[in-house]
Amino acid sequence: MKTVTILGVTGSIGQSALRFLRLHRDTFSLEHISVGCSADEALKIAAEFKCKSIGVADETCDIEVPADVKLYRGAEALCAQAAQNVDVVLGAVSGSQGLPAILAAIKAGNRVALANKESLVCGGPALLALARDKGVPIIPVDSEHSAMFQCLLAGKREDVHSIILTASGGPFREHSLAQLKTASAEASLNHPNWSMGPKNSLDSATLANKGLELIETCYFFDIAPEDVTVVVHPTSIFHSAVQYRDGSMIAQLGETDMAGAIGYGLSYPERLPTGLKPLDLTALGGLHFYPYDPARFPAVDLARRAINIGQPATLMFNAANEVAGKAFLEGRIGFLDIAKTIEIALDKAGDKFTAGLDDIVDADIAAKAWCAALIK
Ligand SMILES: NC(=O)c1ccc[n+]([C@@H]2O[C@H](COP(=O)([O-])OP(=O)(O)OC[C@H]3O[C@@H](n4cnc5c(N)ncnc54)[C@H](OP(=O)(O)O)[C@@H]3O)[C@@H](O)[C@H]2O)c1
Repeated sequence: MKTVTILGVTGSIGQSALRFLRLHRDTFSLEHISVGCSADEALKIAAEFKCKSIGVADETCDIEVPADVKLYRGAEALCAQAAQNVDVVLGAVSGSQGLPAILAAIKAGNRVALANKESLVCGGPALLALARDKGVPIIPVDSEHSAMFQCLLAGKREDVHSIILTASGGPFREHSLAQLKTASAEASLNHPNWSMGPKNSLDSATLANKGLELIETCYFFDIAPEDVTVVVHPTSIFHSAVQYRDGSMIAQLGETDMAGAIGYGLSYPERLPTGLKPLDLTALGGLHFYPYDPARFPAVDLARRAINIGQPATLMFNAANEVAGKAFLEGRIGFLDIAKTIEIALDKAGDKFTAGLDDIVDADIAAKAWCAALIK
């Protein structure tokens, strides 16, 4: 039996993971789960899977757990929960608030299936170095990075020419700059292909998600940003690819459903059924690819700039995006101001918040406070 912890079990990724685990009750045992404050849902999940513990981030959240379930309450306790020995921890919290528990899981020697890309964007190469030192594999769960990981198994690292990172283009793929200026929060959250949490949906609309994923690609696979090509592929069937120097491109394709990447992340190196149907290529008919437009969606190029400055700047890219995204959803700034905030933050403070891994959470808090003051 493989034991599992899910950090952020009530979210979009967490729910897809539960669907996968329900298919494999004889193979996986879900031991520990955490939430922000969705107490009732957490109790239901814990009862269904006979979990040993529930973690609740919000200390003011009301929850009464059964006698045989341990309660972890508050940020520090959530780290202690993530450090409980299991075979795999799925990091599915949204935003950099997921970072402390991921670090705790790695320090404890737990293998991590990582959906929470923001923790890698903030932690940078030091997070991966820590994992290497601890002998802890980190398996990417973003669909694009899961695809790259799988495609990289087909050849040697030194034979890689470049990596192709696909983007759906989000709900505003065909919007003009004038339309983007007045884009509403509601329309931003309405992704045409993927059902995701609010942050990831908004990040897909601005393409800041692709910026985060570009950074994630460079860190995960130790590749320069100029060797990663971002292409728009509206139907999200072709999840990403690796171009080798012999002219072969190895791609990974599948349904537009996170079940594939989550199932692979939890069961690697095995491949277990995920409930996804085989692709019907003749029904698909064709696959289409376009360049992205940096004038309407500057976030990808800003991410390239951040990587070239270094890890303090990728942390700042994430901080500015999180703070500006929240301000947009609360109606305090316009849609295009999100990328503008990232740009100013990189220009003025891209190398300001440097930190080692032990101080990274404080650096993230300081960078977010700087961005909040900028928006005010
Ligand atoms: N959704 C996708 O299709 C997708 C695809 C690729 C990558 N990702 C990445 O996966 C991550 C999760 O995305 P999502 O869309 O699943 O997010 P989401 O739907 O917003 O879910 C977030 C989860 O985290 C919990 N949570 C919030 N604060 C927490 C804290 N401090 N500690 C522990 N748990 C906390 C939430 O609990 P409550 O219910 O109590 O708020 C919820 O369970 C993100 O990093 C995203 O970029 C998502």
